[in-house]
Order: sequence, then structure tokens, then C-alpha cells
Amino acid sequence: MKADVETGINGGSIAQALFADAPLRRNAVLWGALALCGAGVAGWVAGYRSLAWLLIPGIAALALVIIDLAQTKHSLRRNYPGSARMRWVLETLRPFSRAYFVESDVEGRPFSHEDRALIYARAHGTTDTHPFGTQLDVYSEEYEWLAHSMAPNPAADRELRVEVGSSQCSQPYSASRLNISAMSFGALGGNAIQALNLGAKLAGCYHDTGEGGLSPYHERHGGDLVWQVASGYFGCRDRQGRFDPAMFADHAAHPSIKMIEIKLSQGAKPGHGGMLPAAKVTPEIAAIRGIALGEDCIAPPGHSAFSTPRELVEFAARLRDLSGGKPVGIKLCVGLPHELFAVAKAMLASGVQLDFVVIDGAEGGTGAAPKELSDRVGMPLREGLVIARNALVGAGLKGEVRLAASGKVTSGASIAINAALGADWCNAARAFMFSLGCVQSLKCNTGQCPTGIATQSPARQRAVVVPEKAERVARFHRTTMNALHEIVVAAGMDSPSDLRPSHLRQRINVAEMRQLDELYHFARPGELVAGSDDPTLRRWWDAADPDSFRRADGDRLALA
Ligand SMILES: Cc1cc2nc3c(=O)[nH]c(=O)nc-3n(C[C@H](O)[C@H](O)[C@H](O)COP(=O)(O)O)c2cc1C
Ligand code: SF4
Repeated sequence: MKADVETGINGGSIAQALFADAPLRRNAVLWGALALCGAGVAGWVAGYRSLAWLLIPGIAALALVIIDLAQTKHSLRRNYPGSARMRWVLETLRPFSRAYFVESDVEGRPFSHEDRALIYARAHGTTDTHPFGTQLDVYSEEYEWLAHSMAPNPAADRELRVEVGSSQCSQPYSASRLNISAMSFGALGGNAIQALNLGAKLAGCYHDTGEGGLSPYHERHGGDLVWQVASGYFGCRDRQGRFDPAMFADHAAHPSIKMIEIKLSQGAKPGHGGMLPAAKVTPEIAAIRGIALGEDCIAPPGHSAFSTPRELVEFAARLRDLSGGKPVGIKLCVGLPHELFAVAKAMLASGVQLDFVVIDGAEGGTGAAPKELSDRVGMPLREGLVIARNALVGAGLKGEVRLAASGKVTSGASIAINAALGADWCNAARAFMFSLGCVQSLKCNTGQCPTGIATQSPARQRAVVVPEKAERVARFHRTTMNALHEIVVAAGMDSPSDLRPSHLRQRINVAEMRQLDELYHFARPGELVAGSDDPTLRRWWDAADPDSFRRADGDRLALA
């Protein structure tokens, strides 16, 4: 058959569609609809009037078939009119049927049923103990565990806090070992932000504003805040989108703001800025972000306030001064390791210290991101954390600069594992969303969140009752801290800060395991400055330039 000159469609006629090549199977809905219509008409004629009701589904199915046969966009609907629509129904139901009927307790992505069930139980205050032994396969290569001691320490410190603030900071902050990671107003609705903030207040942890600026929902309940400043400088920008020091100083003076975090990247979408289309820029969002109404709100991939490691630490020092001496740190997902080493070198060269570094893993979450960036760009948390620890310890800076970690932290065990790798505290985003009632329906980017968390719809947000959910946030925090304390007791240590890489074991195969310090090189204090004997660390250190994010040897194509 030649291509139809007008439509350009190369294919059979309607007659062929109906009567050739498995016509019964392909047109089952059509024949069924005709049978229903026929039975309805015949019944009516024969005096069985109630059979006429069959005409209603029959005509409806017939209309569907005609629409599908006539449309030109979907191949399946043209070839299987009516019945192809079942595919979309089943596709829509797939996540639910998989989650409820198919997956085992330890499966499920990004978070397994077991992970979520633990958070729900802790948030609700119901029993969180586990019957009958672990469900994990302790001989699988994914299995990792923490070593305990023959001499547990029940006197281990219960007050699990960390002092943040280098000697250059005049308003140090005492942080919890677990805090609420950055999630903006905009990505989350106002009720969710309020519940998180009140929850943070009840729990005694901090709540990171995310890059969308400081909203009234962040301020209403007085929970401790970390104000995140990203490339869009929302809440501290001029009309051109450049950093505005006066506006920054004004907001940073807010008593709830305890620390400032310069966001360089996040694991779920490294190097990706963001764009809120003009249609979505409500007067409320425009006022909070300091942007114009009726214009697209654009966050570029990188910062305009600095372009070298030295300028980055100097910018941090400027923010510290403008905020009246509050701790200032950076958040990033590690990409090229020598860049992080260059920041360490810049601190040594300039004498200016960051107060903290937060490492986000590639496994981290987001409201919306390009799939390629989520799946294939950015370093997973474990490697990123080890590299950051080595940069700080190896440069002799770890005593002043605190290190934090985020990426699928859901339990006391995840905090302890990160502590063993060098993290002073952890941040969690999605675990706290679960504590608010998130059911992992993965619709955060649609505005149609079924639990009212990741949406601006007032109707949907009604589901988030602030005082009730805040209690759950605080309960989840408290019980997770108790679990962390129990691990420290079992390890015979005084505090999570005493955990070391040697406390961590990783299965290699069914017959072998390794301590983490046998798998990775952990730098000794000052090792990089003195000249590391580890060839990889030495290469990264040599390639690090405090005055450029490019390699010091200028060889952009050399191995990272
Ligand atoms: C809905 C949502 C919004 C987020 N918004 C931000 C943001 O504004 N800034 C940022 O640095 N990270 C943002 N993140 C990343 C989290 O702060 C966190 O780094 C990441 O999700 C890893 O933590 P998790 O595995 O506990 O979720 C967001 C994550 C989610 C789920
Ligand atoms: S319930 Fe679904 S849409 Fe709502 S926050 Fe959770 S994953 Fe996102």
C-alpha cells in the first residue's frame, strides 16, 4: 500500500484494520460492543425492555473504538481500538500493585517497605521492634554491618550534639546528630514546611530552608533554621539575580537562622539550576524569593558570586561577617575530587575557614530532576564522604571544619555508619517526608501529591494537620536518636564521634568480608600537606589549585 498523499499515513484501509490479520483479537472491544448493541436492540424489539440498558455500555464502547481507530497519535490504540486503553490503566496501577502485592519487605525503590515501615512506626509512636530476626540476606554482597564490643558502654553520652563553628565564627551552633535536610517552600507546601519546622523545634534539631528562600512558613514556629543560599540567591538577590549583601544581612539577622549553607550542588541533580515558569510564580513566591511577578524564575547551574575555590571561601567569610558571625558552610555532591582538595588548599592558603561541609550522595532525592542527572551524574555518598573526610583530615582542617552527610539516612544505623566514615552529623529529607505521611507515590513533580506534602494545592494540603504531623516528625527524630545511642552503647564507645572505619564491615562475597579501612585509604591528620604515600590522594592534591577549579597541571583530560 502506498502512502496516502494527504495524510502521509502508510497503511491499510479501515476494512483491513477490521477484518485482516487477527481481526477478532485486535477488535475484541468492537465486536463485544456490537454484540451488546445487537442484544439491546433485539431485546427491545422482542419486548424484553430491560435488555435495552445494554445499549448504554455498547454505544459507549463503540464510541471509544471509533475514536481510537480515527486518532493518529497512538499506534496501539489504532491497532487494538478500545482494548489498548487497558495498558494505560494497568501502567497507572503498576506502582501500587507492585508495592502492595509483588515486592518483598526488603525490596522497593528508592526506599524499601521495611525502611518506610520503620519510619512510620517511629513517627506514629507504635512498636518499632522487629520480630524473628533480620530479613536481610547477610551473605549478599550488599550487606554491611557495624562491629560491637564485648564490653558495651551503657554510660555512653545521651546528649548527642555537635558544636559547629570554627574559631573564625562568633555565634557557634550546637547541632543535633540528625537534622531536616534542605527542601524548599515551593517543592513542599506551606503546611508541610510548618510541620517540619515545628517538628524541628520539638525535636531540638535544625530545619534547612532549601534554596527557595525563607518563607513565613519557616518562621512561624521558631524552629532552628539553616538558611540555604544557592545560585539563584533567592531572598538575597538584586533585580539581575546577583547576590545582594544588604538584603542578605537583613534576613540573616533573623534569630531562628542559626547557620548559612552555600549550596553548590545536590546529589539528585548535580550542576542543574532550575526554572520556575512565570505562570507558577505566585505573588507569595515572588515576594519570598525576591523575584519579579510575571517573569520566569531562573536559577543558573553555578554561582555568580565566586568562580574559584579561594573566592568561594572568601564569599563564605563575607556571609559570616554579614550574618554577625554565624557558621557558614557548603553543601555539595562530589564530582571531581581535586576540586574539593582545591577548596581545602584555598582554606590553607587564605587562612579563611569554612565552618562545615555537607556531602550529599547521588542517591539523594529532589522534587523534580532530569533523569540522566539523577541516575548517572554525581558520586554516591560513601565515596563522596570518604573523599571529603580525606580532604579535611589530610589538610589538617577537620578539627575546625565539621563534616555532615545526607543520602538515604533513615535510621540510627545509617547515622552510625556515616559517623564511622567521618560525618559529625546527618541530614535527612525523605525520611522526614515519610514521617509526615508520604507514601512514596512518586508524584512530587506533578503538584498532585496524594498526601498533601509536595503540592501547593490548598485542597490537598488540608491532609497535613500541622500540630499532628509535627509530633510525628519529633517522635521519629527522638526514637532514631535512641537507636543511635544503643549502637554507640553496643560498640562500647562514648559517642558517635568515636566510631571509626574499622567499626564497619563490608561483605565482598559469600566467603569474605573487609573492614572499611582495608577497602579505602583513610588519611592521617595533615597527611596531604606532609606528602601522602597514597598515590590517588597525592594525585588529587597535586592537581588541586586554590585559584581555579580546573586542574593545576592544566590537563583537563587527565584522569580525575
Ligand atoms: C522534595 C525535595 C526537595 C529538595 N530541595 C532541595 C533544595 O532546595 N536544596 C538542596 O540542597 N537539596 C534539596 N533536596 C535534597 C535533600 O536536601 C537531600 O540532600 C537529599 O534528598 C538526600 O537526602 P534524603 O536521601 O534523606 O532524601 C530536596 C529533596 C527533596 C526530596
Ligand atoms: S506522597 Fe508521593 S507525591 Fe507526595 S511527597 Fe510522597 S512521593 Fe512525593
